[in-house]
Amino acid sequence: MHKTYYIETYGCQMNVADSELIAGLLQQEGYRETGDIQASDAIFVNTCSVREHAEERVHSRLGTFKSIKENNPNVIIGVLGCMAQSLKHDLLENKPYIDIVLGPDSYRRLPALLNRQRKSAGIVDTHLSRFEVYDDLFPSRGEGINAWVSIMRGCDKFCTFCIVPFTRGRERSRSVDSIVAEVRQVVADGFVEVTLLGQNVNSYSHEGYGFARLLTAVAAVPGLKRIRYTSPHPQDMTEDLLYVMAEHDNICNSIHLPLQAGADRILKRMNRTYTREHFMNLVDRIRTILPAVGLTTDIIVGFPGETDREFEQTLGVMEYVKFDSAFTFKYSPRKGTKAAEYQDQVHPQKSQDRLEQLIKLQKQHTLIRNRQVVGKVQTVLVEKESKRSSASWAGRTDSNKWVIFEKGAARIKDFVSVEIRDARGVSLHGNIIGEKRK
Ligand code: 5AD
Ligand code: SF4
Repeated sequence: MHKTYYIETYGCQMNVADSELIAGLLQQEGYRETGDIQASDAIFVNTCSVREHAEERVHSRLGTFKSIKENNPNVIIGVLGCMAQSLKHDLLENKPYIDIVLGPDSYRRLPALLNRQRKSAGIVDTHLSRFEVYDDLFPSRGEGINAWVSIMRGCDKFCTFCIVPFTRGRERSRSVDSIVAEVRQVVADGFVEVTLLGQNVNSYSHEGYGFARLLTAVAAVPGLKRIRYTSPHPQDMTEDLLYVMAEHDNICNSIHLPLQAGADRILKRMNRTYTREHFMNLVDRIRTILPAVGLTTDIIVGFPGETDREFEQTLGVMEYVKFDSAFTFKYSPRKGTKAAEYQDQVHPQKSQDRLEQLIKLQKQHTLIRNRQVVGKVQTVLVEKESKRSSASWAGRTDSNKWVIFEKGAARIKDFVSVEIRDARGVSLHGNIIGEKRK
């Protein structure tokens, strides 16, 4: 009988990619994945610390794991990822039902730990490495359209609100050769799109190769229809990178460019290293070189000390850029970060009001941007069945907008030309007018 594991993943795409790495390691040990948590021999949760809400969700799941362990004392329970660091003491002292706590750089130890004789105390390893990039491992990906490929780990930017430099450690990159080899493999496995991942993807640097050169190498992999990447830092957006994007058909015309805030004093306090003017100039450059680019962003409201006037400056940058969509967050103090020490925290109700205002404005901008493509023909990659109707496909444009259209003769993974008829809510609706091969 094979042993089985169950894994639940919270947080960003890096965590999704890490869970695939972990799955690969476990499968090498003869473990098989199961969706049935009650019947599994080992239960893992890959955790996120970026906001308090994410941690709360994990804590409530741990309550469920505890009761499973009460019924089945042999099950192994492992807490992995970003929360390992901050919670190791709490987990050891107050949660004896947890067997294993591993931070993001310690996953290689998992097979050995699972094979150990039963032990009395839990095992904790939250050591952060300056080198670990898991270059030689084989992530277990299942099937799909898009494969996540991690190209670098950690972050050295130290934005004052962000826990990531503490939970994931220093920035380090994989070699171009190993990344390209992995991309070739995922294409051979049937994937048609890759998303290159890093906490700070465009500060990629390995033996003289920067991100633009890496993208050029990845774009040359035969059979790869689409390349996306996330998330870049505005400071590291080079002209080179924009030209590489413009020159390659298979590099998608969309950029996720986190703004965070629109007032210079707040940006400085966040240690974002750019001003509102820099950001707006950068957007102008991007739109000059990549005219139909889709631009999305992350914005935080209620950062310590943010005044009404400064919040309005964030709305001002949004008005200027008119992002295609935005992830919006209320500032959440993270213990150990500089901003959590600031004395002038914004009242939660004020942050809530600002968040609502910002979401309302973004909805208008999304509609404006979506309406701009109505009447145009877009190349869409067929990705899945529409949730609303089994007669329709859903797929994305190059600029990362979802389009719903009648299936016709198209199949999943086809490129089709879709004439956009209508923009409602967040997605577009259209009709196939032709099949497109690239
Ligand atoms: N509070 C709120 N949002 C945060 N983010 C990161 N740290 C925090 C925090 N402490 C947001 C940023 C980042 C995104 C991934 O999460 O906008 O770009
Ligand atoms: Fe966090 Fe800033 Fe690094 Fe992004 S760039 S991971 S927000 S510290």
